[in-house]
Amino acid sequence: MRKKIIAGNWKMNKGPDAAREFAVEMTPKVDGGAADVVFCVPYVSLLAALDAAKGTFVAIGAQNMHFEDAGAYTGEVSPGMLKELGVKYVIIGHSERRAYFGETDDIVNKKAKAALVHGLMPILCVGESLEQRNLGITIEHVRIQVKIAFDGISAVDAEKIVIAYEPIWAIGTGVTATAQQAEEACAAVRQVVAELYGQPIADKIRIQYGGSVTADNAAELFAQPNIDGGLVGGASIKADFDRIVNYQ
Ligand code: PGA
Repeated sequence: MRKKIIAGNWKMNKGPDAAREFAVEMTPKVDGGAADVVFCVPYVSLLAALDAAKGTFVAIGAQNMHFEDAGAYTGEVSPGMLKELGVKYVIIGHSERRAYFGETDDIVNKKAKAALVHGLMPILCVGESLEQRNLGITIEHVRIQVKIAFDGISAVDAEKIVIAYEPIWAIGTGVTATAQQAEEACAAVRQVVAELYGQPIADKIRIQYGGSVTADNAAELFAQPNIDGGLVGGASIKADFDRIVNYQ
């Protein structure tokens, strides 16, 4: 039985003060339940969020990182730096990073490997555009993204990765994939993992759905056999985020 994992992607919202305030308020409401809970906060708010979640089961994640250990990469943050702070998870390959910051499948693969080397758990995002869905190539596209992202990653490491299936057309749009669409894609993702690593690893790996998850649609989405929780954007910084975590 896979434990659900529900992660909030705060995106570029909440500086240290607001992050601390929100985390102090939300943590007791989402702590110690049936699901793993992660707050993925902006870099500058990591310390405040870590401090606010101290002594609880709520984990803190970053939203990005560089793949190199150190060096002349102005403005970047390395996996080791995140690890040193006490960060547990890192979102990799979010569609906004792919669209606005030129992240390719190859970069996503390098970042996933670097995160694992440093003991960070990647939340690795894949998903199709509306155009790709309309062309009927959703599954092919997602299969390619997963295959490249996992290239060169051992089975032992692979099962530490959380995959977030996020159709781009559903992100921040208020349009949610139907439970059936989400399940179909998540099942396809699990199938690729089975082809790469065998069924036992595929049965263990956790696959989230992301894209306009709300307190009202979470229960139906998370009830699907291949959906192990969600990556939640807009609704993760709302006062009723706990309703998504405690969806049952
Ligand atoms: P959304 O974002 O829930 O606001 O659609 C999801 C995401 O970008 O991870």
